[in-house]
Amino acid sequence: MIIYKTEAEIALMKEAAVLVSKTLTEVANVLKPGMTTLQIDKICADFVKDHDAIPSFHNYRGYPHHVCTSVNDVVVHGFPNDTPLQDGDIVSVDMGVILNGWHGDHAYTFILGEVSDDILQLVKVTKESLYKGIEQAIVNNRIGDISFAIQDYAERKHGYGVVRELVGHGLGRQLHEDPQVPNYGKRGNGPKMKENLVLAIEPMINMGTKDVYTDEDGWTIRTADGKPAAHFEHDVCIKRDKALILSDYSIIEAAEKANPNLNTSYY
Ligand code: MF3
Ligand code: CO
Repeated sequence: MIIYKTEAEIALMKEAAVLVSKTLTEVANVLKPGMTTLQIDKICADFVKDHDAIPSFHNYRGYPHHVCTSVNDVVVHGFPNDTPLQDGDIVSVDMGVILNGWHGDHAYTFILGEVSDDILQLVKVTKESLYKGIEQAIVNNRIGDISFAIQDYAERKHGYGVVRELVGHGLGRQLHEDPQVPNYGKRGNGPKMKENLVLAIEPMINMGTKDVYTDEDGWTIRTADGKPAAHFEHDVCIKRDKALILSDYSIIEAAEKANPNLNTSYY
């Protein structure tokens, strides 16, 4: 069942989404080689709790941490661990919060130091594919229009692998609401969107094969060929002419640009 939100509810959801953006900005401020993903987990969990919100991933279906930190060949749902990050790593940080009963859930891929042009291009195209999807997130379009736009750009135009096993989703009082938002599909397919549907759109794009497998921990999703993957996620509200993006990358990007340990040369 698709749940449409009122304007007042969307204002609250924007607060939740922006709290996630601010949390990811905290990460962007301090991220550097040598830091561990468990340290990132603690920074995020503490920041969210200090802002009277709940880190929503913790204990969600038994998830044992507060954020997902997915490094290099890990596509999504990587467990924070005590391995120091290295120059040349890419790390997606995915964070969810509940603020005043409403969920925010989004993700950003950071590049540490020097990487190959191939990796810069992967991160760039993955972020761009998210905006290609968002362009289609308008009243009277169908979910398949978003899916097609992402797949068309990442797969057909750039030759990357689009992960099939995981999808974006509706967002609201629950972390995962209807409808599912695949990153692959056909134009004109799926549910028609009406105003004030809130979606978490989250392309997971692999440099090589689209195939993935799950680690023995039951969560960590890795590329089958060991090549890197990138992941970006925004929370968006369907509107008539142009989606309203509830999350805010501008503060994350400003912090990323100001941090000499992070590579922003792709944008
Ligand atoms: N952004 C992911 C999702 O929406 C994160 C979920 S991780 C989990 O599915 F731990 F909460 F499952
Ligand atoms: Co999500």
